[in-house]
Amino acid sequence: MPPSLLPARATAHANIALAKYWGKSDIARNLPAVPSISLTLEELVTETEVCFEPRRKHDQLLLDGRRATAVETRRAAKLLDRVRAAAGIEHRATVTSTNHFPTAAGLASSASGFAALAAAATCATGRELDLTRLSALARRSSASAARSVFGGFVELPAGAPGEHGLAARPIAPPGHWDLRLVLAITAAGPKSVGSTEAMERSRTTSPFYDAWVASAPRWCDAVKRAIHDRDLELLGTAMEQSTLSFHCCAITSQPSTLYWSPATIAALQTVTDLRASGVPVWSTMDAGPHVKALCEAVDAPRVGNALKQTPGVLRVLFTTPGSGIEVSS
Ligand code: DP6
Repeated sequence: MPPSLLPARATAHANIALAKYWGKSDIARNLPAVPSISLTLEELVTETEVCFEPRRKHDQLLLDGRRATAVETRRAAKLLDRVRAAAGIEHRATVTSTNHFPTAAGLASSASGFAALAAAATCATGRELDLTRLSALARRSSASAARSVFGGFVELPAGAPGEHGLAARPIAPPGHWDLRLVLAITAAGPKSVGSTEAMERSRTTSPFYDAWVASAPRWCDAVKRAIHDRDLELLGTAMEQSTLSFHCCAITSQPSTLYWSPATIAALQTVTDLRASGVPVWSTMDAGPHVKALCEAVDAPRVGNALKQTPGVLRVLFTTPGSGIEVSS
């Protein structure tokens, strides 16, 4: 085996959007219809190893200690195909990926998963890592993964791809603002409908989709300004509007995608009540029933306690601003 095809490992952290991505302008190229901004989270990590092997006939994916399904393997193989094409090799790969997420959290791992896979696979071909190209590569598989390449506060623009493809870019490092995202886990297991399918349903059937696409850039601008000024009220308000608006599209699509459970509503109410009692805290959600509460570090214990006592909340996780991908070979 040439030395350039030694196994490579990468770690990437999950991210939560503060201004949400929902909907594509180009499905084939996986281009987002709206810009988004996220916070990379230190506590949610995926570790991936890729080894290209001359004698292997098919790509093999081992996910959290089990053999991945055909659908999961195909999605990973598409990314590997792009890496192989860029490197001019045809070797198939063995991919071993482990999510070091707190157990049974029911949190999505595609962002950290595809960011780690893109980094490990590129590194395993012996090619130099260019973070912008890497982000564009991860984005082709899952748009939110483009953001997990970078640490801290990260923006993924919408619109036409640049020279190296559409990529995310960092807007502030993790140390810029010591925020906490307190995750209220309201269900175990995977979500009912995946985000890719749900956002496409929204685009094609929700009467509110066009209004969402028209409004999202404004919330993104507000979130960006709020990060720059460390203005939590501006950030929280825009984040809640962005969240509720994309869920509005999902709920009003045909068939409806309702991710909310009674525990979701109870947790949202807890956040609203805390705020009414003077605690600066705002909520967000993704394509699932969990509620994520954004607050200053000093308020996190109180927010966590209130969420723990909320009926239907199974557990609470405290997360902090995290770093971007790291590779080793
Ligand atoms: C609600 O990145 O999972 O979490 O590009 O189809 O893989 P694909 O979608 P994905 O969508 C994430 C949607 C979201 C909001 C966000 O992370 O911005």
